[in-house]
Amino acid sequence: MNKLHFVGIVMVAFIMIMVASCQYKFLVEPIIPPPPPGDTTSFSLEIVPIWVAQNCTGCHGTGGTQPDLTADNAYSSITGMGLVNTDDPPLSRIYTHPLPDGNHYKKYTAAQATLLLYWIEEGARNN
Ligand code: HEC
Repeated sequence: MNKLHFVGIVMVAFIMIMVASCQYKFLVEPIIPPPPPGDTTSFSLEIVPIWVAQNCTGCHGTGGTQPDLTADNAYSSITGMGLVNTDDPPLSRIYTHPLPDGNHYKKYTAAQATLLLYWIEEGARNN
């Protein structure tokens, strides 16, 4: 094997490695399941406690950063600020801003995010 052969083999190997390492990354939109039939997520019993559990209210308290996420004011605050979009629930900023893969100060867990979305899909009622 002369020098030229060797260079040729190395080049072919290099090209094969390059080709093999190519990855196709398909951007798949996350599929959000619709709420279970008949489900009624409760704003006061299931949604408000998320904001307490994640200590969102530490910053978004009464007189703090808007929206006010305390139990008494959360509903009027988030609807008044237009953070809830019942026409296109996944675009609601109260849902998107603290998503688990986002960079807000505190985030929802995946389960909390799903629950919140169900509530919006179900009409975002003050129930
Ligand atoms: C360390 C303080 C802090 C914590 C904790 C915090 N936030 Fe915020 N939040 C802010 C600040 C400051 C802003 C305004 C700047 C911005 O949009 O990031 C804001 C903005 C927002 C907005 C956007 C409002 C708009 O006009 O679009 C939403 C929604 C929100 N926060 C929800 C939450 C939720 C839900 C949690 C808990 C999971 C949370 N925040 C935790 C400080 C905080």
